[in-house]
Amino acid sequence: MEKPLFLYALCGSQRKASTNRRLLEALRDNAPAGVVVEICELIGELPIFNPDREGENTPAIVEEFAAKIRAANGIIVACPEYAHGLPGGLKNALDWLVSRDEVPFKPAMIAHASHRGDFALEQLTEVLKTMSLRLVDEAFLKISLLGKTDGGQSDVLAEAVKSGLLVSVLVKFCAAINRVGV
Ligand SMILES: Cc1cc2nc3c(=O)[nH]c(=O)nc-3n(C[C@H](O)[C@H](O)[C@H](O)COP(=O)(O)O)c2cc1C
Repeated sequence: MEKPLFLYALCGSQRKASTNRRLLEALRDNAPAGVVVEICELIGELPIFNPDREGENTPAIVEEFAAKIRAANGIIVACPEYAHGLPGGLKNALDWLVSRDEVPFKPAMIAHASHRGDFALEQLTEVLKTMSLRLVDEAFLKISLLGKTDGGQSDVLAEAVKSGLLVSVLVKFCAAINRVGV
């Protein structure tokens, strides 16, 4: 049996009731056979990036984070927009990876849980491309959960499951991963 594709999902919101996390959970829970999505729980625990703490001084938790990134066949990123920018915690997590060798050419897809947030989307795209991740444009997923009640979010996500949207973006993402053979 083939090893499942492992997708590691980074959520830019630390909020318990995060809509971005909810979107990632929906992707995780509806992943097609042979695909495992794991949501990263380390972003809020990482120390502030400091180049003096790279190399042999790298904190253990950063090594743990980097090991997950290395193991992943692809990265999914979902984040809110804060003050027309990326959330600091997510940017901090990405900064730890910039000078390392885990991310170059790693496929990535963006999931977006808002009908707004174009500044953050633009910045995220620029940062990921600058870090040499291979952004898979055809797997971009936008489902607005912003401003909806818990039940309203469930309805929107149930519709996305029923229409096949969630599975189809993961299938497109995995096809791109398999094309480049990561
Ligand atoms: C400090 C702060 C700044 C925000 N700035 C923006 C913004 O510039 N543009 C925007 O569209 N939404 C902004 N928002 C709204 C968030 O993007 C929105 O609440 C989003 O749903 C949060 O994501 P989450 O549900 O995953 O936590 C801001 C929210 C906070 C808390």
